[in-house]
Amino acid sequence: LAPNAYQRATETVAYLRSELPDALKNPKVAIVCGSGLGGLAETIDPEPKVELAYAQIPNFPQSTVQGHAGKFVFGVIGPQKTPVALLVGRAHFYEGHTMDLVTFATRVCKVMGVETIIVTNAAGGLNQDYAVGDIVCLNDHLNLAGLVGIHPLRGPNVDEYGVRFPPLSDAYDLDLRKRAHKAWRELGLDKQKRRIHEGVYAFVAGPTYETRAECRMLRTLGADVVGMSTVPEIVVARHAGIRVLAFSLVTNSAVLEAGPRGDDANIQTMNKTDLDEHLGKGKATHEEVLEAGREAAKDMQALVKQILFNLHEG
Ligand code: 6GU
Repeated sequence: LAPNAYQRATETVAYLRSELPDALKNPKVAIVCGSGLGGLAETIDPEPKVELAYAQIPNFPQSTVQGHAGKFVFGVIGPQKTPVALLVGRAHFYEGHTMDLVTFATRVCKVMGVETIIVTNAAGGLNQDYAVGDIVCLNDHLNLAGLVGIHPLRGPNVDEYGVRFPPLSDAYDLDLRKRAHKAWRELGLDKQKRRIHEGVYAFVAGPTYETRAECRMLRTLGADVVGMSTVPEIVVARHAGIRVLAFSLVTNSAVLEAGPRGDDANIQTMNKTDLDEHLGKGKATHEEVLEAGREAAKDMQALVKQILFNLHEG
């Protein structure tokens, strides 16, 4: 009989703990760093700190995307020296990994005793009110892949983690979201032009970015941002009773410049320049995603750090 996801995670945790000093063996908080947000690893104390490349960790998926170099960083942060685990880089479904592998790191966190997970990602903005560089504190999701059967909890339930039919109506912890907005104000970020929102994340399998029609569909369905990560991890975290806080960095506008029906009515009469301009509108590229990530990453890092510093407060 093949080992189940609990047995495999237990084996991985035994390896990780063998590489860690006592102070880092039992992280209380895990932070998943999305595209361009790996700098979060520099917000923890320089000592004690242990970095372990995913490549050397048994059972771990190997990441394949540029800008997603994979490593676990264990350290401490804040006045209480809270032990934390950072996941710099993650496995995506579009890379060809199974949902089991995509969520394996989350399961490892659970077995290590993690109680709270902060998940970050780069996402496309669907809500017209959002600007590139804004941050969205997720308060719900559309698990589009999950609804059609690409779901990390499909298969025999692993009882060591949680129940067969877990609820997700409370997936995005209200107390943690309040702390996020409080931290944002404490940092004075509410007086800057970058804004923080609360919104709904639509999970798509990727790797293509959405067509304009798909963007309109997602918006109609109630999504504020769209991306190719995060939801599988959150589902598995909630199954296992881990508290979840999640942020999207809006790295590009997924739509909307092209108008409600695609605005293609005039293409017959457009000159070449206007046509190129028109067709280029709203086109997502990996470069713009990484660029917006670089600019806003500092604020996102400061925000997460502030939340962690305040976490011991009642
Ligand atoms: Cl526009 N779409 C998706 N699916 N993922 C993204 C994105 C867009 N921008 C960043 N990540």
